[in-house]
Amino acid sequence: MEKIQPSLSRQDIICAETPGPPNAMVVFGASGDLANRKLFASIFNLFTQDLLDEKFYLLGCGRKKFTDEQFRESVQQAIRETHNGASAKDLNAFAEKLYFASGDYTDAAFYEGIKARLVELDKKHKVDVCHIFYLAVPPFLYSTIVEHLGRSTLSCARQSDSMQRARLIVEKPFGRDSQSAAELNGKISRCFNESQIYRIDHYLGKETVQNILMFRFANIIFEPVWNRDYIDHIQITIAESIGIEHRGSFYDKAGALRDIFQNHMLQMLALVAMEPPASFDADCVRDEKVKLLRAIRSFNHGDSNNLIVRGQYGPGVIDGREVVGYRAESGVDPNSKTETFVAAKLFVDNQRWKGVPFYLRTGKRLAHKDTEVVITFKQAPRSMFASVGLDDMPSNVLVLQIQPEEGISLWFQAKRPGSKICMSTLNMNFNYRDVFLVDMPEAYQRLILDFMLGDQTLFDRYDSVETAWRLLEPILSDDSSPYEYPAGSESFLQADKLIESDGREWRKLAEI
Ligand code: BG6
Repeated sequence: MEKIQPSLSRQDIICAETPGPPNAMVVFGASGDLANRKLFASIFNLFTQDLLDEKFYLLGCGRKKFTDEQFRESVQQAIRETHNGASAKDLNAFAEKLYFASGDYTDAAFYEGIKARLVELDKKHKVDVCHIFYLAVPPFLYSTIVEHLGRSTLSCARQSDSMQRARLIVEKPFGRDSQSAAELNGKISRCFNESQIYRIDHYLGKETVQNILMFRFANIIFEPVWNRDYIDHIQITIAESIGIEHRGSFYDKAGALRDIFQNHMLQMLALVAMEPPASFDADCVRDEKVKLLRAIRSFNHGDSNNLIVRGQYGPGVIDGREVVGYRAESGVDPNSKTETFVAAKLFVDNQRWKGVPFYLRTGKRLAHKDTEVVITFKQAPRSMFASVGLDDMPSNVLVLQIQPEEGISLWFQAKRPGSKICMSTLNMNFNYRDVFLVDMPEAYQRLILDFMLGDQTLFDRYDSVETAWRLLEPILSDDSSPYEYPAGSESFLQADKLIESDGREWRKLAEI
């Protein structure tokens, strides 16, 4: 197959970011994994790009007995590890904005201490506006912290000026099924309005995921063929080569269904398949997403065994290195039946998609990291080429490559020069890095700036969280043993059968 480069006209793109307004961020779980791996480096990037207001400050909260100085050193260290080229000058200037409060999340006195500290720091930084509370803690602590935010009045709920309102940032998974999500939401709603709640699904902050909407709705040539008349099927893959890293005890209670499928996977599906929103306003976009999720056919409809396959990785080899099987990972029950892989076939029962299968798969410890959406179009009518022996022409395929190599490619047929009837499949390929000459910004950077600005477009609304849980309800309680696949494999027999029994096949994971 031949590869051709598009000749894109490069216009100057005016996309100046709006800097965040003055605010103070309170990060619960500030000595934890998420804060150190993702949040601090993203906030630091905003700082170096002049997107943080000069009055901004951050109060880290956690159980560790850090002084402000120790916290600053630990944050600087975390940024150095995840961020190439952070200058000492910038790091020191950023560190001056950092403070720490140490305490027990279940102790009311901790929150009274935070409140007093915020009064003092607001005065020092001359900030008298929004406090943003970020829950970067394990999900079992969400309710406790939120209840204390309410009791201590830190949540300052329902003030009249929306910019003055406290905001709450909650990580996924939001609950572990529809009932627990409703309970959590009930507790949060006692202290915060929906307009103050930012439910994070970091996939929505990825440039290439956001681009799905731009691609679909800013180009007139795709929308007319984006439906059951022209599309044969759609595949969405989130393949990871990493295992569960140090998160055994969390992951063993979650599994791939709760960790990725309920959120990242269904959100991507919603963006690929939703109807055009009336505007790019947060609620218009979120209305359309939830409508789409509601149109997904229930797993109760028919035999769910033909619609979903669960797998769990056994020992194997990744990148030439032997790795242990899932049940031998630290923090995991040696008899665990938790799935680390899910493949599913879904149908969206609406006018646009009726009868078009959506094949979704996600797994850990697979051969390569590869996140992509693959749209396979129906075959062209073949009759005029059959007489010359070309009766089985490949379909057009459009690949939206989300990571690790962000781009878009379109596969199509063209005549090869020379012999009269010779055809080739060509790949028209656009790669973000080559065209825009920038590294992809970290998803968290986008999301942090958005919640500072009060823009909820890229955050999950409760109705969509609830709809996603309800969809998964019939399969969440499955306690059968998942199929074992060797770590480092591309797929396994039962997952392949799910799609091959329909006469189709998974696209090979891209090896980058
Ligand atoms: C997280 C999951 O939400 O997403 C992890 O909890 C997963 O298990 C991660 O590894 C994948 O994110 P990314 O951005 O690396 O694709």
